[in-house]
Amino acid sequence: MTVSLMDPSAECGDADCVPAFRILSRLIEAAGVQPQVAVILGSGLGQAGDRVLFDGGIAVPYSDLPGMPSPAVAGHSGRLIIGTGAHAGILLLQGRVHWYEGHSLSVMTFGTRLMAAIGVCTLVVSNAAGGVSPGFQPGHLMLISGHWTLLNIQECALDQRLAGRSDLGDRLWNSRLRSAAFAVPTRLTLHEGCYAMMSGPNYETPAEVRMLQRLQVDAVGMSTIPEAIAAARRGLRVLGVSCITNVASGLSDAVLDHADVSETAASIEAEFTTWLLRVCGRIMTDCAEPAE
Ligand code: HPA
Repeated sequence: MTVSLMDPSAECGDADCVPAFRILSRLIEAAGVQPQVAVILGSGLGQAGDRVLFDGGIAVPYSDLPGMPSPAVAGHSGRLIIGTGAHAGILLLQGRVHWYEGHSLSVMTFGTRLMAAIGVCTLVVSNAAGGVSPGFQPGHLMLISGHWTLLNIQECALDQRLAGRSDLGDRLWNSRLRSAAFAVPTRLTLHEGCYAMMSGPNYETPAEVRMLQRLQVDAVGMSTIPEAIAAARRGLRVLGVSCITNVASGLSDAVLDHADVSETAASIEAEFTTWLLRVCGRIMTDCAEPAE
């Protein structure tokens, strides 16, 4: 089967992706699948990759893809899974790198840009997040409908890959994909709301969380937005989902710890995985539908 692949050097200044693109496109062609949806699996949420691999998928270590950064944070495995059989059309990135690890925005978005070059039309981006909104409890999910980026804006502006367009606004988060995701039944509580990306790596102070409440933020994390912007700018439809692993700092007596975040993510991972793969199946059917 011939896979129709975009020439990454012709688009978006993504020449850095070309060597990885060549390797990955050969693997995809050999697998005989047509990638449609890419999924970035956040902290402790990698099980969908394991399940797709178990069902006959193909694992590609990030280290085999030149330029693809390998994650250093616990809970991020660093491999790409090509779905086959019942999961044909899905590519999963098990693990990501973060701003706070010292990576530039172009490095942070490498995997997303590679997925766009390969020709997927939809990006599903997941993360672990702290609940800011009252009623957002550990184990709940939030579909992202808007965002704040509370990073060093000057550095963002210096990165030409993300600079220059701010007109996507909340349209970045595709409302039809959210409706499709809401329609997939799950025992998990599903919310919709605004995500704030903080620079990390430390969790927020209680004072910062009070600021976020005033900004009407519903959930806070340290990732996702650069990938979502890079995808949307390349014409992909974007669905964002936050797994609320804790209530944000200062909103409970608990002292936040990465181990607790991982524990909550692990406790819902099986149910989350089932739901996520069904959402992917549902949104894969219509790649012709344009980004909003
Ligand atoms: N804040 C930032 N990032 C996070 C949190 C949080 O409370 N929980 C999981 N990732």
